[in-house]
Amino acid sequence: MDSRRTFIKTVFVALGAGATILKSGIASAKKEALKLDKVPALQKVGGSAKVKLAGKEILFIRDTDTSVRAIHPVCTHRGCPVTFSSKESKIVCECHDSVFKLDGKVLKGPAVNPLKVYPAKLDNGSIVVTVD
Ligand code: FES
Repeated sequence: MDSRRTFIKTVFVALGAGATILKSGIASAKKEALKLDKVPALQKVGGSAKVKLAGKEILFIRDTDTSVRAIHPVCTHRGCPVTFSSKESKIVCECHDSVFKLDGKVLKGPAVNPLKVYPAKLDNGSIVVTVD
């Protein structure tokens, strides 16, 4: 009986800790706006730029007339910087030749994990991105 109580107590403590982590994760997400006229490279499709926003470097890629991608530009293999190849429309890491799709998924290793992607959209002449 005592071990059952301990088990139930442990489950509730774990659930509480999980809820706290979730809450703090949501609370720390922040919307930031970047005016397109401040970054000419992002005004045309195929353009890209690394911009520091909310204390984080973000690789923005203008992939269509109506959309933009926002990527954490650090390779998940060993942490080298990644860049956008407009010729191939892919994100590449020159350290060990990993290649990523614009949604961050791995196309070619050695990286096995996707790049972090921030939600971003075009809104009235600005890019609105949610960073955490
Ligand atoms: S650090 Fe990018 S492929 Fe190794």
